[in-house]
Amino acid sequence: MNSAAIGVFDSGIGGLTVMHALMRAVPAESLVYFGDTARVPYGPKSPDTVRRFARENVQLLLDRGVKMVVVACNTATAHALDYLRASFPIPVVGVIGPGARAAARATHSARVGVIGTYGTVSSDAYGRQLRALLAGVEVFSRACPLLVPLAEEGLLEHPATRLIAREYLEPFSEDGIDTLILGCTHYPLFKPLIAEILGPGMTLVDSAEETAREVQQVLGARGLGSATGRNGERRFLVSDLPGQFRRVGRTFLGEDPGDVEVVRAGEG
Ligand code: DGL
Repeated sequence: MNSAAIGVFDSGIGGLTVMHALMRAVPAESLVYFGDTARVPYGPKSPDTVRRFARENVQLLLDRGVKMVVVACNTATAHALDYLRASFPIPVVGVIGPGARAAARATHSARVGVIGTYGTVSSDAYGRQLRALLAGVEVFSRACPLLVPLAEEGLLEHPATRLIAREYLEPFSEDGIDTLILGCTHYPLFKPLIAEILGPGMTLVDSAEETAREVQQVLGARGLGSATGRNGERRFLVSDLPGQFRRVGRTFLGEDPGDVEVVRAGEG
């Protein structure tokens, strides 16, 4: 048993979808969230740059005494998960393995779609995991970068969003997929719209929920669960613009994050 907090980081606000899932899956755990709002977005940045940011973010959380880290960002998971696991002595959970496992379980046609940032899609991280899990699976990946700012503007059902989402998603109808991985922190907010565009019979895999389940398992397997018996505390740290984080964060978290502290990533 260990009542230290779990650290969660993302490039910015989007990882609050993972935080939301964790708050429901492991309510007794204290959680420290770091959103790297000064350096967002990670999606279009090089693998080396994202790895450096990710290492600094984990160090920042370790300096605050966390027992485990959840990489809530798909792009950071794609480029840096193995590197982080090799560099730090605590368990590090990413969002791609859990999402790929859920998709491999869900698909009947062995044809799976993935949407994510340019970084996530070009890394083929979901594709590699899926092929390792399911022989013969065909993976169709498309970057949907404009959905990120639309989510942050709260334009979840706006006609412009519908138009853009159709443009991105309609090519999947040619691919014969029956499962689509929402491989970016922001996309779970568009679940109803994506379900409407792709029609019935399509399973949408939300990596946030699957990741929260993996955290639950890791805590159990390693005996790291909190022993306090009461609800955990939540802290929110950002590297810039705490007011905007709090305002926009409500939509992602499903509640007001409350106080948001500004810290400098890379300087502990
Ligand atoms: N958090 C990122 C992800 O899940 C999306 C936003 C960004 O590009 O930084 O890939």
